[in-house]
Amino acid sequence: MCGIVGYIGQNDTKEILLTGLEKLEYRGYDSAGIATLGEEGVHVTKVKGRIAVLREEVDSSVEATIGIGHTRWATHGVPSVQNAHPHQSSSERFTIVHNGVIENYIDLKKEFLADVDFVSETDTEVIVQLIEKLYEKHKNTKKAFGEAMSLLKGSYAIGLIDAEDHDTLYVSKNKSPLLVGLGEGFNLIASDAMATLKETNEYLEIYDKEIVLVNRSFVEVQTLDGEVIQREPFIAEIDASDTEKGTYPHFMLKEIDEQPIVMRNIIREYQNEKGELKLDKDIRKAMEKADRIYIIAAGTSYHAGLVGKEFLEKLSNIPVEVHVASEFSYNMPLLSEKPLFIFISQSGETADSRAVLVKIKELGHPALTLTNVPGSTLSREANYTLPLHAGPEIAVASTKAYTAQIAVLAVLAVDTARVKGIKLDFDPLQELAIVANAMEVITNQKEELEQLARDYFATTRNAFYIGRSTDYHVAQEAALKLKEISYIQAEGFAGGELKHGTIALIEDGTPVIALTTQENVNYSIRGNVQEVVARGAHALIISSKGLEQDEDAFVLPPVHELLTPLVSVIPMQLLAYYAALHRDCDVDKPRNLAKSVTVE
Ligand code: F6R
Repeated sequence: MCGIVGYIGQNDTKEILLTGLEKLEYRGYDSAGIATLGEEGVHVTKVKGRIAVLREEVDSSVEATIGIGHTRWATHGVPSVQNAHPHQSSSERFTIVHNGVIENYIDLKKEFLADVDFVSETDTEVIVQLIEKLYEKHKNTKKAFGEAMSLLKGSYAIGLIDAEDHDTLYVSKNKSPLLVGLGEGFNLIASDAMATLKETNEYLEIYDKEIVLVNRSFVEVQTLDGEVIQREPFIAEIDASDTEKGTYPHFMLKEIDEQPIVMRNIIREYQNEKGELKLDKDIRKAMEKADRIYIIAAGTSYHAGLVGKEFLEKLSNIPVEVHVASEFSYNMPLLSEKPLFIFISQSGETADSRAVLVKIKELGHPALTLTNVPGSTLSREANYTLPLHAGPEIAVASTKAYTAQIAVLAVLAVDTARVKGIKLDFDPLQELAIVANAMEVITNQKEELEQLARDYFATTRNAFYIGRSTDYHVAQEAALKLKEISYIQAEGFAGGELKHGTIALIEDGTPVIALTTQENVNYSIRGNVQEVVARGAHALIISSKGLEQDEDAFVLPPVHELLTPLVSVIPMQLLAYYAALHRDCDVDKPRNLAKSVTVE
């Protein structure tokens, strides 16, 4: 949800901002802009569309050593040049970029800015006009900025430049992510360390409601009351090359192919020298103590949670509820006496999940976050973190994070079972090694899957995925993958449920993809396939080795029955990928979406 970058130093500011925005484009890409400040004053360039369009528009002759940039995912106001950031105050003295949603912007407008002519429909312009108004009162930018921040309600990550001050970037955040990057003779700000890894790997965290003054040679962090805070920087452990596509045409394909490596990373990271499971002792205690687990997540991470519920219930004997984060607060279930909340989030920044985390912390309940981004908001604010070790996931459609989440949940479930003295005939590390090999077998069958995608999805309007039990969870994830990148209307159904209404949508040629990896449902799901075929469906059956029949289109290599989602999802990801490709869709940056959803 919008990406921000800012720079103050000696080098080519425009280029650093544009490169940073290219790396942040996964956060939103409907419009973009930069503002630079140099001898000639402030220079703003804004476009509707992608960073590539912005790059063409930026005047290469403009020189500056301080600047801010923004890539937008529209919340208030349609994508347009007018609504694109940076926004300026009426006098053009102050220029701002903002990620987040200001909840009280209408009240602020009425109370302080009734006489101001606004040029955009955004809540962001209210902030910059407010700063100008407060500057008239204080005649001091820092004071005006601080007072404005104290008046804002909602989420924000903000970078501001003052045309009269070439030495300071004014920065603040609340609920939205923002980091300060530290360098020799320069400093910068970014929504995500990935944006500026070319410049530095040393970063300083900013906490909610802090005010940060970023100069070329120093960074000062203060509370809203002006108290100066000392904080140690951290090193971002990301390899800059991990954020490049290399020879792949798309990040999504690269990330699908990386899944065997991710499984092997997880095996390495979660075992000790003796080859036993290795987990933080505090996490073990929290798991042992919990009488019920509440998994909170969104989208693909929610689908991973559904699979995780099975592991935790079947292996470690703890009741589990899985909740969509954005719904949890409205229908909060009756909580058990000793609940443990598990937040699953690739980015660790999803605002819907964070809202639940804030709520349950107020209630005094413990939280564990499973995330691919240690140091992210959900990771920092939970009591415990389990990293996914999947490496940066750049494609908007999540693939390797989903399988990493499932693998880490399997490790957690087995570890908890052992701590509780439950005897299991299941070694997750050994089984994950088998999964890694099986994944490789499937990723080597791309041509076959590309052909199937052509046969089933080239022209269809809709598609249905069916499965029972564990396969049903994968069917839901498969449908999400297809719809988000190919725009085919797709739904994942419990096999038995289709005939309770949705079967009415089956017409001649409607694709129905059936998944069968569990012996106890093999017979019934094949019955459901017969029902839809009798009504004209174009059925495609994907089965596990050992359960296959002659009519099956794709057979999965055998893995432990509990872990089949880790392999059955791979052909689904590839089918979605090739369907999107054949339909000329932008695979890595599907329309209307953003990777990191930092607004509720
Ligand atoms: C789909 C997808 C989204 C995310 C969801 C949660 O491919 O990526 O559904 O899974 O927005 O994001 P995280 O996991 O970052 O909390």
